[in-house]
Amino acid sequence: MAEEKKLIKVTIDNITVEVEPNTTILQAARKIGGDVVPPAMCYYTSLENSGGKCRTCLVKVAAGSAADPRPMPKLVASCRTNVMDGMVVENITNPAVLEARKGVVEFLLINHPLDCPVCDQAGECDLQDLSYEHGAEATRYEFRRRTFERIDIGDFIQLHMTRCILCYRCVYVADQVSGKREHGVLDRGDHSQIATYIENSLDNEFIGNVIDVCPVGALTDRTFRFKNRVWFTKPMEAHRDCPTCSGKVRLWMRGDEVFRVTARKDQWGEVKEWICNECRFERKKVSDWIIEGPTKVSRHSVISAGHYEGVKKPKETFSPVMDGAKPKLLLDIQQISSVNKVELSEIQGPATSKTFNGDPHSVGHNVTDVKLDEGRNLQGTDSTNPNV
Ligand code: SF4
Ligand code: FES
Repeated sequence: MAEEKKLIKVTIDNITVEVEPNTTILQAARKIGGDVVPPAMCYYTSLENSGGKCRTCLVKVAAGSAADPRPMPKLVASCRTNVMDGMVVENITNPAVLEARKGVVEFLLINHPLDCPVCDQAGECDLQDLSYEHGAEATRYEFRRRTFERIDIGDFIQLHMTRCILCYRCVYVADQVSGKREHGVLDRGDHSQIATYIENSLDNEFIGNVIDVCPVGALTDRTFRFKNRVWFTKPMEAHRDCPTCSGKVRLWMRGDEVFRVTARKDQWGEVKEWICNECRFERKKVSDWIIEGPTKVSRHSVISAGHYEGVKKPKETFSPVMDGAKPKLLLDIQQISSVNKVELSEIQGPATSKTFNGDPHSVGHNVTDVKLDEGRNLQGTDSTNPNV
């Protein structure tokens, strides 16, 4: 008979929970759930060695263990600190922790631009949420910020290093999931950057998963960029018989069009099963998928806006009132408007005015920051760089 593991007790924000030995404080807090769970920008359960980079998960250990109840002298990263029996942890109940987290957010935002209005990650960005919850209203940073040009790494992924917070998640995905890594963090200190060195393309079968693990908008899906805001799309769970991956995905739909395909994420925003590039980038037709039903979206997410569950449609009354007559349509806007003839999900890039004016297959190219009369702006736009 398997030996039963002895559980240990840990108290987080006055709530006691029993967990297995070698559990981290973060995982113990997730077992409790709700507001006591510290935010995590770099830790990822399924990626070995992740965590310990961003410091957003800092907590105070007010008592180390039942055997040695002395507090730990400094705040600790909850994703990298294991619990001990009798440990007492303070997260949102300790103002010093909240103040420290505010400082961490200020650091993360030194170089990360507040370009949410034009960023494809807006609405599902961990840093955006963190800034709302813990950010300060203004920055104290007065120096030139580091900015980079956007580059396409491979056919499907765009890297905008200006937004990267160097969490290393994409590096671990490339190492541990795709098995063929051609990118990494080059250089050190404020010169550090995610790069492919000689700009080798990242084209291996599972590399698209780097987009899902990126907590900010540094790595984005080129087949979806600028096609829609995520809160206007409707996420649906779907699957297909895929020879390469589990084929279990989330479709981001608008009407009958599939705008984007991603892996499914759990309540902590972590991918449960990695998906292959073919499912992600090349299966954009509803007929490619068996639809399981709408994704359950947390009411706290902006994506839940307008997604009502259990809606009962009002009874159609026109025909009974008009003795069975059908309404007379004067025009069918679907037939008349050329806007409706554009299949946004099928074009390989963002639509432009040309797309809607007679050339439904034309697409825009990467936006390069060009200022009127000044040419190409290598420092970034006003939105990405307040110093220019
Ligand atoms: S590109 Fe994204 S996932 Fe990769 S290190 Fe930067 S923030 Fe993290
Ligand atoms: S999540 Fe713990 S340090 Fe980043």
